[in-house]
Parts: sequence; structure tokens; C-alpha cells
Amino acid sequence: MGVAADSETPPVLVASNRGPVSYTLAEDGTLTARRGGGGMVSGLSALGDAAGTWVCAALGPGDREAVSRAGGATLDPADTGGRPVRMLDIPPDIFDAAYNGIANSVLWFVHHLLYQTPLEPVYDAEFERQWTGYTTYNTAFADALAAEAAPGAEVLVQDYHLSLVPALLRERRPDLRIGHFSHTPWAPPDLYRVLPDAIARQVLLGILGADRAAFLTRRWAGAFADCCAELLGAEVREAAPGGPDAFTVTYEGRTTRLGVHGLGADGAFLRERAHRPDVDERLAALREQVGERATIVRVDRTELSKNIVRGLLAYRRLLTERPEWRGRVVHVAFAYPSRQDLAVYRDYTAEVSRVAEGINAEFGQDGWTPVVLHVKDDFARSLAAYRMADVALVNPIRDGMNLVAKEIPLISERGCALVLSREAGAAAELGDDALLVNPYDIAGTAEALHRALTMDADERRTRAGRLAKAATALTPRDWFLTQVEALRTT
Ligand code: G6P
Repeated sequence: MGVAADSETPPVLVASNRGPVSYTLAEDGTLTARRGGGGMVSGLSALGDAAGTWVCAALGPGDREAVSRAGGATLDPADTGGRPVRMLDIPPDIFDAAYNGIANSVLWFVHHLLYQTPLEPVYDAEFERQWTGYTTYNTAFADALAAEAAPGAEVLVQDYHLSLVPALLRERRPDLRIGHFSHTPWAPPDLYRVLPDAIARQVLLGILGADRAAFLTRRWAGAFADCCAELLGAEVREAAPGGPDAFTVTYEGRTTRLGVHGLGADGAFLRERAHRPDVDERLAALREQVGERATIVRVDRTELSKNIVRGLLAYRRLLTERPEWRGRVVHVAFAYPSRQDLAVYRDYTAEVSRVAEGINAEFGQDGWTPVVLHVKDDFARSLAAYRMADVALVNPIRDGMNLVAKEIPLISERGCALVLSREAGAAAELGDDALLVNPYDIAGTAEALHRALTMDADERRTRAGRLAKAATALTPRDWFLTQVEALRTT
């Protein structure tokens, strides 16, 4: 499709909070660049030359230093794989209010149904301050994009951090074609109404500023459409079948198209990366630890929505109810810290370790450690675990997609069985060949683990083959290019 290669059309701008690179600053002043993390960044990083400038925020002191050394220009291309990246040095207090305050503590909680509602949320003066910070931060992005975009260019804005950007950008640059993509689920209206009314409307109107707003599954697109109908009184229609859109939403005379693009795993990259020597080394070390026992593998960032604690409780239940598994299975659980500026995320990380240690203390025997937990991020070790997986456990409370559910069946050497939450977006594409579970149901999850462990080898291989095929149906590059094509078709 050659979107960027076409010299007639200006390159597509991308905007997201986290960029493709982040920097750490050593005491001696040296800056080290690292690839950014998370599903959204891995999807967008696979684009090569398909995208133009990527506008993102400086996340910490290392990033701020890199921006200052770039003198306000794009970052050193040696750090970004040649891609032009403009990092915005938004003041730390504004950034903190927008990212930690609103994006990760309010919008993430609403869309993933994480509030313990008897006590939270509480919308107080602190919340109002954070909301002001969120609007300032969104305005900084809109200003930067308005300055950066060539006439008539496409701009693809990513995620809940930037929900106000489409409308703010349209005010500044009505000539642009603006897309927004949500990598998270969308809350159904009854739960979305947890937001203060005025803010619930502003977020919807912010996204409706786009020409096209897209989601990972039809379920999330439908929930967004329902919120527009119920909270704004917008007119929602199903789009014509066979076209690029799922719905249209018309409000005050303007129509926004809603699309669905189920981001897939980057099969070519993962297959190659998973067989490099650093992965082989880690695989040998893990094999040494686990022996020939069966493995239940999970790899997550430690986000509250990932449901790691209930996963461990289900594993404990398996060992309790089905003692025949004692000494014959190992739960390899990698839970990498995420968003550790927030106490609730830190507490959750500690709880994961506490429950894992409890299981090891209760059931462990000489020569058998029931749970092998690692909390230090190591991509090569994750791939080694993928390779040795007999069962993959992916049981989020709710998840936009969950790329790990797609990646493990692709890389597992013996073809793994997938135990998958029905609340993960990936269930829409993988549901036929996975064992679906209710993520709150410990007994049901334990039973699914047992079924997965006892699944006949041929059946497991056949299912894993189909899972791998479904997992790579829409490569990250095509995911991006189909959105650009759809945005260009009016
Ligand atoms: C996950 C979600 C993305 C989100 C990202 C942010 O990967 O799927 O929707 O953009 O988290 O993570 P961060 O570490 O930047 O807070």
C-alpha cells in the first residue's frame, strides 16, 4: 500500500503519550535510549517508514534532557531507528496530573471497571486540578500537531491520554484528516457514567472531533457508540456492511465514523527474535529450573487489570483440588512493574509477590518450586518462556486486546493451550480455539487450567496452529495502513 512512499501525499503523523524511545540519564550525564513498552508502542513501532513524525511526551528526566539536547528539534535519529520523533517537554506537574492523575487513575479505571465503588472515585479539588492539567497537556499536543502537520495531512491520535486532542486539533486545523484509536476497552454507558457528567461529555466530544475513531473490537466500538447515544443524544447508525466502518455517530451536524481494527502480533519479528542466542540461553536456564514438568506461562506488565492475583489463586486451587499436579507442573509468571509512581500499582505488585510466595511456602517441595515469579523486565526471558509454554494463562479483568494472548501460541514450541479471559478483546478473534474463562471465577479458571494441561497433544497443536493464524491476521503494519486508507476514503 506504500502510504509514506507515495510522494503525492504528506506522511501520516502519529501522536501518543509514550513514544517509541525513552531515555535514562546516568550520573555522569550519559543518556541511554531504550525502546518504549506496552501494546500500543509495540504495534506502532513495527511501522518502519509507513509513518511520518511521531509526537510524544517526555516521560521523565532522561527524556527531558534528550529534548533539551535536541534543541526543540526532532530527536537524534540514531536513537529512534531513523524515524522523526518530536518529544514534548510538558512541565512535570502538568504531565503528572494528566498521566498519573487522569489517564491512569481515572480513565483507565473507568474503562477497565477497576473502581471499588463504595469508596471511590471521589471527585474533589485535587481531581479538578488534575483535570485542568489533562486539558493543558492535551492542548500542548494539539498545538504541536497543528504546527507540525502539512496541509491536508492525516494525523492518527492514540489512546485515552489524548482523548481531547481530536476536537482541539480540528479547531486549529480544519484541513487535516484526524483519526483517533483507543487501545483500551470502552466502558458501557452505565459504568461510563461514573465520570462527572461534564467530563464524560467532554471526553466523548473530544474523540468525536476526529473524522474516524477506531477500536480494537466491535464490542468496544459499540460501547463508545452507546455512550454517545445515551449521554449526548447523538444519532448512531450501523455502517454499510463490507465497508471500512462499523458505525457512524452524528452529533450537531457532524458525522464521525467508527472503525474496528484488531491489532495482531508481529509474527515475522517475534519468530526471528525468539531464536537469537540470548533467548536460547535463558530457555536453557529456565528448562534447568523447571525440568520436564508441564508449564503454565503468563507474561504481563503488572497492571491492575491483568488479574495476576486471581490467576495465582486459580493455580493454588488447581494444586489443592487436583493433587495429582503437585510436583508435575510449574507456573512461570513474569509480572513486570508498571506505573510505579502510583501507590495502588505498587501495592498490587507487592500483593502478586506475596501470593506467589504463599503458594511456594504451602506446596513447595525439595526440587519443585510451584511458582517461578520474575518481576524484572527481560524481553529475551519472556520469549524463552513463550517457547516453553504448554499452557498460556491470560485472564485479564478486561483488556483492549492483549497481545500476549496472540504471541504465546505463535512462539510456543509444542503448541500451547490458551486459557483466555472472555473479557479480553483477543477473545473476539481467538475464542473458538482458546478455553474461555470468566476472570473473576477462580474455580472455573482452575478447571480450565486442568483441561488445558490434559488436552490431547494433537488437539493442542491443531488449536495452537489456528490460534497463531488468527493472531497474525492483521500485522501491525497492515493495522496501521488500513486505518490510513480508511481515513483517506470519505
Ligand atoms: C497498555 C495499553 C495501551 C496504553 C499503554 C500505556 O499497553 O494497552 O492502551 O497506551 O498500556 O502504558 P504506559 O506504560 O505508557 O502507562
